Amino acid sequence: MQKILEEVVEENRPLAKRGRVASYIPALAKADPNHLGICIVDVNGDIYKIGDADVKFTIQSISKVISLMLALIDNGEKVFEKVGREGTEDPFNTLYKLDFPHIEKPVNPMINAGAIATTAQIKGDKFGRILELIRRITGNADIDYSREVYLSEKATGEKNRAIAHLMKARGIIEEDPEEILDHYFKQCSIEVTACDLAKIAVFIANGCSGLESYGKIDRKTLSRNLLAIMTIGGMYNVSGQYAAQVGVPSKSGVGGGIMAAVPGRMGIGVFSPPLDENGNSIAGCAIMKSLSDRLDLSIF
Ligand code: DON
Repeated sequence: MQKILEEVVEENRPLAKRGRVASYIPALAKADPNHLGICIVDVNGDIYKIGDADVKFTIQSISKVISLMLALIDNGEKVFEKVGREGTEDPFNTLYKLDFPHIEKPVNPMINAGAIATTAQIKGDKFGRILELIRRITGNADIDYSREVYLSEKATGEKNRAIAHLMKARGIIEEDPEEILDHYFKQCSIEVTACDLAKIAVFIANGCSGLESYGKIDRKTLSRNLLAIMTIGGMYNVSGQYAAQVGVPSKSGVGGGIMAAVPGRMGIGVFSPPLDENGNSIAGCAIMKSLSDRLDLSIF
């Protein structure tokens, strides 16, 4: 496995030069474009890693999987009364369809609107519970959020603000939009490593066991929903192409992370900050394709 990781890094590292680190959130522009790391955790708990697999970066949109997990734990399938689970060719920060009279909810929990509507459904201290769940799944009690990135997101989050207020006006969210946004900005600013992502991914890939203290949970329904929704929307408007080429339920974030769950086999975390025009890590996607080809990971 280590040899495969070395080859995959060598083959795909040059691709990072073709992308650009996210800058629409000013604090993200400070990311080092040369960072590149991969971590694989298999269902037996064996860990394989290479490069900057222990370097911290902000989880960004990958947190949408965790907020969906908690919303499903709290509400079951009722979650889908307020957010759909269909694919879209629109970008992750799309807003305009939310104002169409016949559209009653955001298309899926992986776009910003859908994620904000999902976080709104988490009971109690939404952010606190998201952070606690991430710490628990990863076994890493030191995970926290970056105050700098959080404040930067909050200061420049006009588009997300427009989305949340429009959803309040349309009855998709009921609470104060500013309060929900505060939880959303914080959840996106949680700092993780590629190894943390691999641990969350293997947890999902292995059927989400170990959440007994969260009450009676239908684990099969939970992991199936997460894997299915990551497949149809985790890589945004190129999720279909990624499904055909890589074939692994995955979620990307503008911090440069990709979290990929291979059902029954392993979790993968990849980190490389330069992004393509859709907001996905450019080397990260190529690394996932190489790993899928070599390890025969496609679920299709
Ligand atoms: O809401 C935002 O724009 C960011 N906090 C998260 C977006 C994101 O990661 C999209 N990912 N590719």
